[in-house]
Amino acid sequence: MLSGKTIIVGVSSSIAAYKACEVVSRLKKLGADVWVAMTKEAGNLIAPLTFRTLSGNPVITDLFAPELNSLPVPHISLTKKAHLIIISPCTANIIAKLAQGLADDPLTTMVLASEAPKLIAPAMNPAMWRNPLVVENTAKLKRLGFQLIGPESGCLACGDSDIGRMSEPDDIISRAVGLLGGAQDLKGRHVLVTAGGTKEAIDPVRFISNRSSGRMGYALARAARERGADVTLISASGYLPDPLDIKAIKVESAAGMLEAVLDFYNNAQAVIMAAAVADFRPKHPKRSKIKKVERRKLKVEHRIELEPTEDILKAIAQQKGRNSRLLVGFALETEELIRNAKKKLEEKDLDLIVANDQTTLDGEAIKFSLISRDGRIDEYPLQSKDRAAHVILDRVAAAV
Ligand SMILES: Cc1cc2nc3c(=O)[nH]c(=O)nc-3n(C[C@H](O)[C@H](O)[C@H](O)COP(=O)(O)O)c2cc1C
Repeated sequence: MLSGKTIIVGVSSSIAAYKACEVVSRLKKLGADVWVAMTKEAGNLIAPLTFRTLSGNPVITDLFAPELNSLPVPHISLTKKAHLIIISPCTANIIAKLAQGLADDPLTTMVLASEAPKLIAPAMNPAMWRNPLVVENTAKLKRLGFQLIGPESGCLACGDSDIGRMSEPDDIISRAVGLLGGAQDLKGRHVLVTAGGTKEAIDPVRFISNRSSGRMGYALARAARERGADVTLISASGYLPDPLDIKAIKVESAAGMLEAVLDFYNNAQAVIMAAAVADFRPKHPKRSKIKKVERRKLKVEHRIELEPTEDILKAIAQQKGRNSRLLVGFALETEELIRNAKKKLEEKDLDLIVANDQTTLDGEAIKFSLISRDGRIDEYPLQSKDRAAHVILDRVAAAV
C-alpha cells in the first residue's frame, strides 16, 4: 500500500513514545521507507536502537552525527524525498516550537524544511492540553495546515482518566494512508463487515464462544475506510477499540448479529462476513447463575443441550440480489481446508471465500487462500492482517 512512499516519523518525549514503535512497524509492513527523528528527551524514554531496528534506517537524533554523513545535508535531502511527516507522540513543547517556527533540534528543523503534509498526534496530561497556550499553539498549527489526530480520552500514565492519550497507532496509520492518497477505489461504496466471535449464553454470567479476536474484521473495516468506503462494522468483539471514523455496532450472539446484519444489509454493495459466528447455542439458557451442586459428596454433572444458531450467510445469500451485491465469507477449517471452503462457497452462494486455518485465530497475521465462484484459487503467504485486508479488498473493489 505504501511502497514508494518515504515517511518521517518524529518522536518526542511523551510516555506514549512506546506506541510510536507500532506506528513505525506498521508503516514498514505497508511498504513505506521510514525514517525516525527523535528529540533528545525522547531518548530518555525509548532507545534509538529500537527505532533503528524497526525502521531499518539510521535514527536521526543529531543532524551532525557521523552516521548521517552519507546524506548530503540530511535535514534537506531527507525532507525533500518525504511524502509525509508524522509526529507521534507530539509533546506540548514540540507543538509550541512548531507554532513559533523554531528549528533547534533535528525534528523541528526537518518539519520546517519540509513541504510534505504533516500529521501530528499530541499526547499530554489533560491540564497541559487545556492550557490556553497549548490551545492557541494547536489552533495556529491547524490554521497553517497541520493535520491533527487526537488526543483521545482514556486512562493516562499520570493516573488521570481524561483527555490526553495519543491516538491508537491503527488510527494514525489510517489517517496517514488517507493523506497519502491511497487508492480510493471504494469511494461511494458501502461495505458491511462483521467481526469477532459471538457469545451464546449458558446463564447470565457464562457463555460459549470461540477464539476469534475480531482483528481480521477490524483490519478489513479500517482498510475499506482507507479506500474511501462508507463502512458499517458489526462486532461481537468485546475489547477492540472502534476504528477511526467507524462506529462499531456491538452485538453478542448469533441472533443479535443476524438482526444487525439484516438492518444494514440493504444499503451495502459488499458484505464481508469475517465474524466467527457460533454454530450452536445452549437450547435453554438459564435466567440465573447455575450453582455448583454437590449431593452426598458427589459432584452433580451438568449437561448443556445445544441447538443450531441462525445461519447468517444463508439468510442473506437468499436475498442478496445477484450482480448487485458482493458476498464474501470466511472458512476456518482444521482439515481439508480448500475442499471444505469450496463447499461452503457453493452452499452459501458466496462470491468469494477466504480460507484459513486455526493458526490465524487471535493472532496478528494470516496465511490464506482466496477462492472465487469461477473456481479460481489464489494462495497467499503469512502476512499481517492489515496487508491481507487490502489483498481481499483488491478483489472486492474490482467487483463492486
Ligand atoms: C515520564 C515523562 C513523561 C512525559 N510525558 C509527556 C507527555 O505525554 N506530553 C508532553 O507534552 N510532555 C511530557 N513530558 C514532558 C516533556 O518530556 C518535556 O516537556 C520535554 O522537555 C519535552 O521535550 P521534547 O518535546 O523535545 O521531546 C513528560 C516527561 C516525563 C519525564
